[in-house]
Amino acid sequence: KPKAVLFDLDGVIVDTAKHHFQAWKQLANELGFSFTEQDNERLKGVSRMDSLNILLEIGQVTKSQSEKEELAARKNERYVQSISTMDESEILPGVISFLEELNENHIPFALGSASKNAPRILKKIGLYDQFHAIIDGNSIANAKPDPEVFLKGAEALSVNSKDCVVFEDAQSGIEAGKAAGMYVVGVGDSAILKGANDYIQSMEEMSLNRLSK
Ligand code: BG6
Ligand code: MG
Repeated sequence: KPKAVLFDLDGVIVDTAKHHFQAWKQLANELGFSFTEQDNERLKGVSRMDSLNILLEIGQVTKSQSEKEELAARKNERYVQSISTMDESEILPGVISFLEELNENHIPFALGSASKNAPRILKKIGLYDQFHAIIDGNSIANAKPDPEVFLKGAEALSVNSKDCVVFEDAQSGIEAGKAAGMYVVGVGDSAILKGANDYIQSMEEMSLNRLSK
């Protein structure tokens, strides 16, 4: 049984990928190139600036640092606009009941996300007060696959890394969890996500009973 659980946000708790995709696509189109959902896969779990760099590389466009900052801010404004109507109906299936099971068993849980919008999103979906700690893009210096985000989560919950379970839908996040010495559950396809300890398609398949085995 885990002593603590660390959750990624985007793609695990809530499906924000479509909102990120639309905002990046619009930016790419303005810069004169197309951007597909397949391209968008490369941005999952990746920080905002690193995502922009990948996007510019796809479009073979070079920009100065100040231009990049303007582009990242423009993308974020649209993303924030796009998630402004988000509510608890967008919490992914199985999340609420698993959080309830953790609470009933007194197992603390924290958020470990690359997103600087994590607190805003958690408030919108009504889960902000549920998390015992929130480690997000504002509180880390090194993005996933660096383990910093999860190590800080374990520290905030006063639990050893090896007693933590991580839920992740991105390759960079699975690598971050493994690098932190944690048990990692990949949320998604094992053919795409490499190196996790276990895989589920959705949080609906998760229970403490499954983790205890
Ligand atoms: C991650 C998402 O959780 O957060 C990425 O998977 C996103 O797609 C990253 O780029 C940073 O998000 P934000 O909200 O700080 O731009
Ligand atoms: Mg994710």
